[in-house]
Amino acid sequence: MNSSVLLIEQKDGIFYLTINRPDALNALNKDVFDALEQFFKEKKEDFGVKGVIITGSGTKAFVAGADIKEFIHLDAVAGAALSKRGQDIFFMIENFHAPVVAAVNGFALGGGCELTMACHLRIAGEHARFGQPEVNLGLVPGYGGSQRLVQNIGKTRALKMLLTGDMITSAQALDWGLVNEVVPSGEEIVASEALLNKITTKGPLAIQKTISLVNDYFNKTVDGFESEYKDFGYTLGSEDAKEGAAAFIEKRKPSFKGK
Ligand code: CAA
Repeated sequence: MNSSVLLIEQKDGIFYLTINRPDALNALNKDVFDALEQFFKEKKEDFGVKGVIITGSGTKAFVAGADIKEFIHLDAVAGAALSKRGQDIFFMIENFHAPVVAAVNGFALGGGCELTMACHLRIAGEHARFGQPEVNLGLVPGYGGSQRLVQNIGKTRALKMLLTGDMITSAQALDWGLVNEVVPSGEEIVASEALLNKITTKGPLAIQKTISLVNDYFNKTVDGFESEYKDFGYTLGSEDAKEGAAAFIEKRKPSFKGK
């Protein structure tokens, strides 16, 4: 099941997934989503999987976001569909029966920060940076960020991150409860293994049920995720989003018009 964009290794029931697009700072494109979906679908009822560690290739980025170059040309309807598919795959991760740890070895921005939050636990290297910079592109988050950031760090801090697009350091992320632990750069995987090795000594049914119960806490009747994918499509279909992506690719400041 190894694809070149998602490297998969296994040792003693722990699966190691490495998102492998270092030239694009491991940005999430369709191929990465296909491979993540295939893995989590295939393992959905495989209780031989004791835990999963997700990381990014190289030392600079965990994941620098959704692949901006891939969605630049989409209209509102296609944008909403892209966002909904990403959300659905991240729900598979969030609801996975065994603990999934994000070993955050660099930038975790936009879809990357959202991926870390879909994981159950987060271990960050000292150099890791977290952010939801979608507003810089004239967009809202698309893979659950507007919902899970509030769940993790509270409304006040989440709104500041979401409205400014500013990045925070791993130390700040620890202080705000966005990550479980900060470790020296390069030790993210070892620390994630140590955490999983502790959890795998516990009762597997209790671990499964604990994950499911904690997820239940956030199960609301108003579906902010549904609003999010619709608003992602709406902002992606706007002139501002075209300008935001063009400015990113041309390496210049965007000139937004509010349209
Ligand atoms: N999509 C596509 N390509 C990306 C990318 C992304 N999200 N992030 C980085 N890259 C590419 C760059 O275009 C560049 O490619 P080229 O060499 O071909 O020009 C390469 O990766 C290296 O990036 P930089 O030269 O920009 O590296 P840097 O060190 O100067 O900056 C960075 C690093 C601050 C992370 C910067 O790359 C950046 O700001 N990236 C975009 C971050 C972002 O906006 N993420 C949110 C995306 S939108 C989203 O995720 C929506 C959603 O929720 C669904």
